[in-house]
Formats: sequence, structure tokens, C-alpha cells
Amino acid sequence: MPEIAFVKPAMPKHGALVLPIAEDGVAAGLHAALDQASGGAITRALEAASFKGRKGQSATIWAPVEGISRVVAIGLGKAGEINAEAAEAAGGATYALVAKERDATVAAEGLPAPLAAAFALGLQLKSYRFDRYRTTEKEDDKPKLEKVVFATDAATACKNAWAPLRAIAEGVFITRDLVSEPPNVLHPVEMAERCKPLEKLGLTIEILGPKEMKKLGFGAFLGVAQGSPVEPRMVVMQWMGASGSGTATAKKKPAQKPVAFIGKGVTFDTGGISIKPAGGMEDMKWDMAGAGTVIGLMAALAGRKAKVDAVGLVGLVENMPSGTAQRPGDVVKTASGQTVEVINTDAEGRLVLCDVMHYAQERFDPRFMVDLATLTGAIIIALGHEHAGMFSNDDTLAQQLAAAGKPVGEAVWRMPLGEAYDKQLKSEIADMKNVGGRPGGSITAAQFIQRFVNKGRPWAHLDIAGVAWSSKDLPTAPKGATAFGVRLLDRLVADHYEG
Ligand code: BES
Ligand code: MN
Ligand code: ZN
Repeated sequence: MPEIAFVKPAMPKHGALVLPIAEDGVAAGLHAALDQASGGAITRALEAASFKGRKGQSATIWAPVEGISRVVAIGLGKAGEINAEAAEAAGGATYALVAKERDATVAAEGLPAPLAAAFALGLQLKSYRFDRYRTTEKEDDKPKLEKVVFATDAATACKNAWAPLRAIAEGVFITRDLVSEPPNVLHPVEMAERCKPLEKLGLTIEILGPKEMKKLGFGAFLGVAQGSPVEPRMVVMQWMGASGSGTATAKKKPAQKPVAFIGKGVTFDTGGISIKPAGGMEDMKWDMAGAGTVIGLMAALAGRKAKVDAVGLVGLVENMPSGTAQRPGDVVKTASGQTVEVINTDAEGRLVLCDVMHYAQERFDPRFMVDLATLTGAIIIALGHEHAGMFSNDDTLAQQLAAAGKPVGEAVWRMPLGEAYDKQLKSEIADMKNVGGRPGGSITAAQFIQRFVNKGRPWAHLDIAGVAWSSKDLPTAPKGATAFGVRLLDRLVADHYEG
């Protein structure tokens, strides 16, 4: 993560100078100063490159004056239409152009503080890289960027705008790291261990193992776990930001019911005895993205000291075939008392979620509950990689989620629920089957989960199977783990549930 700083404008003596330029914008500040110092070279070069400041446009001018190794002009679009999203995208595009420099200065004199901070966020998010396991990469090929200085007359306002965004970026990176890790390294026990350091942010972390789960009656969750030699874990994270978490004056009684986030954390999904085909099975290392997102979200909320009481619960388990694995036909008893006939051991995510969600409601009586899960391949068929599927029993919560996702580039699309779909889950031997057949596969999965939502509890389920991982570069993320959901849910909390 490059360090971000906001300082009074001064011509840099080394590194890159970045000029964010609006369409028809006039050169001012460092831009004008550099143009003058270079005898008009900047203006000439931008003209020669047909650079107009349009969105997505960029131009690099190499070493126009001594000391500055490159000048990068980056288009912001029409001056009146520059919003946080545009500034973020420009920041993301900038990163690729200055990554090989040790330091860069952004001439941000023309950007109001919120847009300068958004630019910084885009740049920071795009700088993500998971290179833990590369040992032979040449020095020349590695990114070098250590520090990005924003030259601005509003340094204090910028710093204030940046502080919460920085915490969000850190949360996003925590999620991306978890989701990127290979499944031999990040098994359930290890993933739970990686939550512990978050205590230093003021989070309370509890880790439960199979003994505790057995006592709680987690028969569905434990059924998934029984094929793996690695023990399952449930992690309960609490941030009591409205009741005084992270301060010396923590109150004893919570001010309000907490909001609750639940994540599917299948650290590897082979399908179990209903085994998946070999091709592409490696993707199932990121079947813990829902849990990874909840963990990064809790870190973001704590990191920016959000004034909300929030709990995050994740069910961590590996779905393996073995002599001890559960079989198609097995009947398991969930923590809620309802029984499930396991028709397909590859529909394991819902078996994990149902017990964790029941527990979350019994213990915390949350104001609302949002679960995140890479739950179905069918949601990719329905929505591709552009929207997460959203299912909800509450129009207000659904609208709030849809609105929160748009400005942060994490769009959700509401899908239907209904009794007719629910009927597809009817079992001859138990209260329900764990699959409802091919038609409406994502919907019947949501119907299954809804059976474990208490009456009257606002709930939304986000099926993130199509958006948790990207096979192409995105404006503010390299290809790979996206951390979809961290920013969306942070925004949901910020917009409606703080204070
Ligand atoms: N983890 C998968 C869903 C998935 C598929 C996530 C592709 C990401 C990419 C889930 O556990 C699963 O296997 N779902 C089955 C359900 C079916 C057996 C009813 C599916 O989608 O095929
Ligand atoms: Mn599966
Ligand atoms: Zn799965």
C-alpha cells in the first residue's frame, strides 16, 4: 500500500508529477508552474497527444524538466460532472502509469477535498497486489510506488476526507488477501486465526470449534465439515461503535440492537461426495469470499470507528469427499431444529449459513441481517459478473442496499422470492431438501436460507458468486479477488445506521 499524504503545493524534486485535468480546464498551480519551467513543453506535448481531459484519457511526458522523471496527465471528464466515482476511476488509472516510480505528486489544487480523497482511494485500491508466493520476479518488473503526495491548499480537509477511506481500503485489502490465499494455506483453522489480529482495531473476536458447535446443535454445518481432516470454525466479531467499542469509556449496555453480517466461508469446495468436475475446480478456493468480505467489512467499520453496533459471523469449513464425508441422502438436524435431507453435498453453503444465521439471531437479535455467499453457479448465468444477486424480505433494506452499491461500483440486482419456489424444497423424509432442482437455482437457494430467518427480521442475502473474483482488470482493482461487498455494506451502514 503506497503511503498517501496531503501537503501544501510545492514542485517535486523527483518522481512523477500527476496532472488531473478536466475537459476544457485551464492550467493552474503546479501544472502552470511546470509548463512555464519547461518553456511550454507540457502544453505542446498534451496538444501533440490530442489530450483533451476526457474521461479515461491519459498521456505521459517523459522528463520534461530536471528531476521529474515523468508527467502523467489524466482526464477527469467535464468539469461540472466530476463525481467521486470519476475521481476514483482516474486515481485507479493513474496507478498503472506511475507504479514504477518510488514517489508521485498529484497536482490536486483544483480538486475539492472529497474528490482528492476519492482519487487517492481509487489509486490505493488499484495498487493491490498478491505476490506472497512469487520468488523469481525481476526487480524491474515489480511496482515501486511507496508514496503519493497530493499537493493541495486544503490539506486538512483532504486528510479528514481520507481517514475513513483509508480504513475502507485496508478492509478491502484484508478481504482480497484472504480470498487470494491458496486453500492449502487458508484452511478453516488458519482463516479463524487471521481474524485475531483485528482485536487491535477494537473488535472483540471469539472463535468456536466443533465441540461448541455440537453443543449448539449445528448439525447442518458439522455435516459439511465431517469430510475434512481440518476442523471447522465459527468466528464471531463484534464492533460496538455506538456503545463505545475501542474507547476507554465503553458502556455496559448496548445503545441499540446491532446490525449483523454473516459470511459463507468454505475455504475449498470440492463438492464433497457430489464431487465437482476437475476443470476450474481451483476457483473453489474463493468459496470463502462471503466470510472474507465480512471480515474485511468489520475491519473497515472498526478502522474508521463507525458509530454503529455491528456483529460479523463467519462459518469456516472445507467441503471434502472422504470416507467420513456426508452422503447424498443423509438427514441432518439444524440448530433451529428443522431437519434437512442432503440431496446434493455440493449445495453446502446453505447448510453452513443456516446454522450461523440461526445462532446470530438467537444471540444478538439484530436490527437486520445481511448474508454474503458465493452460493450458486446459477446466479452467474442470471446476472453475469455485473451485479450480485440480492434477495430480501424487506423492501426498505433492499432499496438501501441497491442505493448504497451504485456509487461504490458494487451493484446488486434484486431477485424474486415466493412460495411457489419454496415448494421446490419439499422432501419426502425431512422438513426440506437442500436443493430445489435446476429451475431458479439461485432463488431456491435463497428460499432455503429464508427458512432460517425469524419472522419479522429484515434480511437480505447477497449471492456474490459472479462478482467475488474478476478474470479481468477493473477500474479500481487488478484481476482476482475484488472484495465485493466491503464498500457496499460500509456505505449501507454509513448512510442509514450510524449515530
Ligand atoms: N460454491 C458453489 C457455487 C459457485 C459456483 C460459486 C461457481 C462460485 C462459482 C456452491 O457451493 C455450489 O456448488 N452450488 C451448486 C448448487 C447446486 C448443487 C444446487 C451449483 O451452483 O451448482
Ligand atoms: Mn458447492
Ligand atoms: Zn460452495
